[in-house]
Amino acid sequence: MRFLTFPLAAAALALAAPAAHATPAEYGEAMYRPATERGCLACHALQPGAKRADGLPPIAPAWVDIAKRYRDDPQAYERLTRAVMSGTSPESRHWAGKVSEANMPPNAGVVTQREARALVNWILVLVP
Ligand code: HEC
Repeated sequence: MRFLTFPLAAAALALAAPAAHATPAEYGEAMYRPATERGCLACHALQPGAKRADGLPPIAPAWVDIAKRYRDDPQAYERLTRAVMSGTSPESRHWAGKVSEANMPPNAGVVTQREARALVNWILVLVP
């Protein structure tokens, strides 16, 4: 049992620890990894970029733009964690006209609730 639970506990610590003790750069490095491994950065960029070569807007909102938009919204953390887990609806787009995809598919198959919370927590402090 000890051998089975140890890697899980270590992984949880690895996700939880940077927020409390790491420098901002270390925190960023630590979070960049799950963001890449879970596929988030296949659609999202951290920084808003230039237009795509085909002239279309980016697939998904840049995380710095998400941080700016919700910086004064105390409900954002809970709501965005739900959005990450369950996906967003094409009928109530929050980024219509700014992104080329109509919605985000659910990510519950690739992230745990804990990882989603950690990622959203990080996104929300990316305000420049
Ligand atoms: C297949 C592409 C895709 C992937 C993969 C993806 N997203 Fe998204 N995401 C989107 C799109 C498109 C939107 C904008 C939806 C809208 O207009 O309401 C979005 C919106 C968001 C928002 C803002 C939601 C809001 O209500 O404003 C957050 C936060 C977010 N994504 C985080 C994540 C995280 C974390 C992951 C990885 C676990 C992830 N996304 C993976 C496409 C994606």
